[in-house]
Amino acid sequence: MIVNSLYLIAAICFIFSLRGLSKAESARKGNLYGIFGMATACVAAYFAASTTDFWFILAAIVVGGVIGVFIARVVSMTALPQMVAGFHSLVGLAAMLISFSACFAPELFRTSTSSGIKIMSLLEMGLGSTIGAITFLGSIVAFLKLQGIYNGNHVPLSLNALLASSICCLLLYFMLTESEEAFLLLAAVSLLFGATLIAPIGGADMPVVVSMLNSYSGWATSGIGFTINNDLLIITGALVGASGAILSYIMCKGMNRSLWNVLFTQGQLKSSDASTLGESRAFKGGAPEDAAFILKNANSVIVIPGYGMATSKAQYALKELGDLLKKDGISVKYAIHPVAGRMPGHMNVLLAEADVPYDDVFELEEINRDFASCDVVYIVGANDVVNPAAKNDPSCSIYGMPILEAEKAKIILFLKRSMGTGYAGIDNELFYAPNTMMLLGDAKKTTEDIIKAMRE
Ligand code: TAP
Repeated sequence: MIVNSLYLIAAICFIFSLRGLSKAESARKGNLYGIFGMATACVAAYFAASTTDFWFILAAIVVGGVIGVFIARVVSMTALPQMVAGFHSLVGLAAMLISFSACFAPELFRTSTSSGIKIMSLLEMGLGSTIGAITFLGSIVAFLKLQGIYNGNHVPLSLNALLASSICCLLLYFMLTESEEAFLLLAAVSLLFGATLIAPIGGADMPVVVSMLNSYSGWATSGIGFTINNDLLIITGALVGASGAILSYIMCKGMNRSLWNVLFTQGQLKSSDASTLGESRAFKGGAPEDAAFILKNANSVIVIPGYGMATSKAQYALKELGDLLKKDGISVKYAIHPVAGRMPGHMNVLLAEADVPYDDVFELEEINRDFASCDVVYIVGANDVVNPAAKNDPSCSIYGMPILEAEKAKIILFLKRSMGTGYAGIDNELFYAPNTMMLLGDAKKTTEDIIKAMRE
């Protein structure tokens, strides 16, 4: 009774947590709900444990907590996607290990009958182990790719199709025979499938992969919840699985791609894209003083932050610049692309960190119509998310991705360090537009110099 009540409280907290995390304004509250829910779940696990050796549970909580706090403190904002992928691999591993123990010691989990393991339990174990293994190795491959340690390989679609059908056959065979060898082989083939599924995915598609692995880890957890009759695992797993799937869908929509297209079109960058880079093409450069003059004479400014703002930590300088402009009666808005930066909500988090008011921050659909009437667009370390090639060049790798239509503004100030490319590795026509001024240098330093020039 106590355990079920605690499970219910924890599940409700997780639902409120997800709801809170869906908006920057309520994210802090969402996190607190999550922490409280997880603490309640740990207490419930303590009461539900059929062991009297509670030191194991306590030790696991302490060790896990210390490692979690340490990683959260040392990891940089730009390395968060890797961290998330790393954490997902642990969820997959946990799901796999629980499936193994349920398979080899079913009596501990009330999954067996006098004549053997229940057929549904066999299905849950098999699925838990399969999804867990795919998540485990898939997440490790995603981590290595995001960290730049491994670049990926082409994998024929036929190999993945063969592995997927082998998994189905082995799962069926395991359910019919309860063969432990089949179970082990199923786990091995699933591990391989996890690696071959993620290895060929590249370029701008990694965010979708990470959130899809998040979804897998949720379903694996849910499957394990059925195996060991744990309601909280079933509910929590389903919440994570569904939210990860919805996030993948939102990101695919943001890039105008289907999930099938992301997963199975071996989305590496086309080499022809990289070869069209325009280091030698003529462009209009400018100094911070020029930018200060232009900004002071504008009526409306839209700031577009991108990955470069995160690497240069320019958000505080940006906020200062925004405040300065507002003081002069200039309208300042911030435009956020759904895949700007390197993880969902990346720019929102950084702007919130610098206390940029939520009311000044707009999503792509809300702000795109404002560019045509805007005097100055201030692009800070963004590139792909404003690249008109996504609309005009059917041969480029980001074709079809909706962009922030910065090209429609009267003047474009482009802050980046060089004429190099962004994540997708393609040149940007906007650099060479007659109304664009390139301000080459570190985004934070350039913004600080502009502030200085404006004050002078
Ligand atoms: P990018 O297209 O990657 O462009 C970032 C630009 O920032 C680069 O061109 C770089 O140019 C510049 N930069 C880097 N460091 C800088 C610094 N210190 N100061 C000034 N500029 C700096 O970024 P974006 O426009 O935000 O687009 C995001 C891309 O990442 C998309 O292709 C997206 O699909 C992909 N992606 C997104 C996510 C999510 S979920 N947000 C996750 C993974 C990948 P220089 O080198 O010349 O300075």
